[in-house]
Amino acid sequence: MRIIDSVSEMQQQSDAWRRDGKRIAFVPTMGYLHAGHLALMQSARKHGDAVVISIFVNPTQFGPGEDFERYPRSFEKDIQLATEVGVDVAFVPQVREMYPEGFQSYVEVTKVTLPLCGRSRPGHFRGVCTVVLKLFNLVQPDIAVFGQKDAQQSLVVRRMARDLNIPARIVVAPTIREPDGLAMSSRNECLSPLERYRAAALCQALELARKAFRKGERNAAALKKLARRHLLKIPGLRLEYLELRNISHLRSVSQASHGDLLAVAAFLGKTRLIDNVRL
Ligand code: PAF
Repeated sequence: MRIIDSVSEMQQQSDAWRRDGKRIAFVPTMGYLHAGHLALMQSARKHGDAVVISIFVNPTQFGPGEDFERYPRSFEKDIQLATEVGVDVAFVPQVREMYPEGFQSYVEVTKVTLPLCGRSRPGHFRGVCTVVLKLFNLVQPDIAVFGQKDAQQSLVVRRMARDLNIPARIVVAPTIREPDGLAMSSRNECLSPLERYRAAALCQALELARKAFRKGERNAAALKKLARRHLLKIPGLRLEYLELRNISHLRSVSQASHGDLLAVAAFLGKTRLIDNVRL
């Protein structure tokens, strides 16, 4: 696997692949890779001739007081894991390469960024879209793979790609879970053993609601109440949101339908976790 840390080298590599008619599949990450990321890379491998990942903890998507400094990092292990799954290039730019002196251009997607994570993390999706568009411009992917765990992010990126005529196809791969159901996330590493044990409650709560939906419950308030009641029993868990939204525009629904998104965000200690299921 080749490691590239300069913007111009990344562009040259992508240009060369494109000249050779190779299809480029891309997985953007912030590193601290786990099995969820590796599944995205395996999916990328199926879609492309050349697989690129980026490892870049993007400062513009963290708000003041958020966990940019605390975000876990493990460069050597990441490189080893990416090599093992057959990634061709790891693009690992420095912050000053991505945001040089004088940087002042940002991408803003509007409506779909307002609810859920956008409400509690103003500016987050502006940072995500800006860095993803920059990465797309450098890597020039035919396909980019994102995870369903970040359901709103995937939707926002799809919207941006459609609105700004970005040629990459956006593929969304399923959430990979720990044996107790906890969605894999780099942030799980920040949990204490007790918080880690309690974190499984997020997916248990979503599953309770999904089971009720399968049995015929369609009232959104009743479904949310079921899930919320489970979460409120967990000591130290601070619920940020638990919402049922339609999947195309993230509009709030009062009657649940197949395919709707039930999404949750909660803090355990200082660590913010998100998860979701489709009904
Ligand atoms: O999902 C992530 O890890 C990040 O938001 C992304 C897409 C790599 C942009 O920094």
